[in-house]
Amino acid sequence: MISVRTILGGTTATLVALAGLSVVGGAGATPSPPGGPNFVEGASGAGDAYFPYSGNGGYDVKHYDLKLDYTPPDPAPAPLEGQLDGTATIDLVATQNLNRFNLDLRGLDVHSVTVNGVEATNVPLPALGAVVSGPAYWQVQDDDARVWELTIQPRPKIKRGDEAQIVVNYGGTTGVPGDIEGVPYGWVTTRDGAMVVNEPDGAMTWFPVNDHPSDKATYDYAITVPEGKTAVANGLQSKDADTDHGKTTWYWDAPDPMASYLATASIGDFQLRPTYHSSSGVPIVDAVDTKLSQSRLETTNKSLDLQADMIDFYESKFGPYPFNSFGAIVDNDSVGYALETQTRPVYSRQASEGTVAHELAHMWFGDAVSPQRWQDIWLNEGWASYATWMWNEKQDRGTAQQAYDDWYAEDWGDDYWSVQIADPGPTGLFLDPVYDRGAATLHALRLEVGDQAFFDGARLWLKRYENSSATSEDFQAVFEEVSGQNLDDFFDTWLQTPNEPPATWSTSS
Ligand code: TRP
Ligand code: ZN
Repeated sequence: MISVRTILGGTTATLVALAGLSVVGGAGATPSPPGGPNFVEGASGAGDAYFPYSGNGGYDVKHYDLKLDYTPPDPAPAPLEGQLDGTATIDLVATQNLNRFNLDLRGLDVHSVTVNGVEATNVPLPALGAVVSGPAYWQVQDDDARVWELTIQPRPKIKRGDEAQIVVNYGGTTGVPGDIEGVPYGWVTTRDGAMVVNEPDGAMTWFPVNDHPSDKATYDYAITVPEGKTAVANGLQSKDADTDHGKTTWYWDAPDPMASYLATASIGDFQLRPTYHSSSGVPIVDAVDTKLSQSRLETTNKSLDLQADMIDFYESKFGPYPFNSFGAIVDNDSVGYALETQTRPVYSRQASEGTVAHELAHMWFGDAVSPQRWQDIWLNEGWASYATWMWNEKQDRGTAQQAYDDWYAEDWGDDYWSVQIADPGPTGLFLDPVYDRGAATLHALRLEVGDQAFFDGARLWLKRYENSSATSEDFQAVFEEVSGQNLDDFFDTWLQTPNEPPATWSTSS
């Protein structure tokens, strides 16, 4: 691996120029002279305005097969560092004629790359436009510019529409990566293992990936850990764990298409509990850290006991649970937030009832239908928060209307109202207004179009975009379709205007 910073110490602009990384919006790509007129370099970003280097252009991943071998840190005072070695086998389809393409990979060294069985050679970062002969790969790791790219030059080149299988062997030391705000995410090393929560672009801290929710894929995992540790990922165990020479390998299979930020492979001292089912037959698998305090364990158990009922309730409102399984990973760590990792949310220290209701709702809103751009995050958080209002109503803790009235009555202050929730900015994804103004927006929409159209719209949204991703504009179109109303003013007021919505919506019922 080459470190661009040691070569250049440069700015993003220099880096991009020299690395020949093309950040082109959408499916754009820069023609590559060495590739000939018809072959291009896949873009080094998926076109997301918030995270220009997240994801890539020129291909569509179908499947990730991840073989991971992980050694957690030694006991304190040893550094909080693990050792991760992986082999990622990636099946993709080219959407352009590819002379080169990128994967995202952060903080780990690539040892080998093959494309359709042809071994590529590790070469130094070539200058822009430079000819590199033969199958090759190189890495860019620029922590300051937040640019982490593995570029692969396949030979023969890959034709548009062709499938290719990429095998990347990689590894390195793990620590505690930070998101754009410095909040721990990705492969978060813990003293007893790792808590793996990737939102928005932290999947690249543990495997080479097209790290953007616009490209979903299926996953399977073989995770080898020291005997006694438990590894829990998405989906269901595809076979029993096996132990050999003091190491245990855990096998998980996630056959439902999944955005990379929703992948997990959390490792720790978990009690993997027996499978039980919702009344509709969804298998529920929980993994709970054996080191939770007694009171947190009690809170957690009470909440997890409600999961089957919550699935019943949401299914009655939103339609069938979208995936093959559900369950929780409750880790006694210090990350401090939960994440709706697909089929198996991860909770930090304990799982409270409200958080479980929130993360379960994300299975429909966020996971089955994901944001097409990170600016659309309110579609995740607004719905998960609103569904929790609905769950509270079902549990006789006040109606959704009361929660909405309370929200309206609150004196939130100027900072709160200044957030444009359909475009909160890359450091604003998890601000309070995204969550509860988002929930209030949905309740106001319900008042605007009526219950029938509201729930018809929710189901149509889920059906139309299931296993895919969509935008706020797509969302508006669905509700205009089911209601027959023009909702321009409504969505403009609620999503785009950084002011308190007028009282008009607080009085209807
Ligand atoms: N999306 C998570 C949820 O609502 C929360 C989350 C992810 C978060 N990353 C974060 C919260 C960073 C605060 C900071 O369940
Ligand atoms: Zn959420």
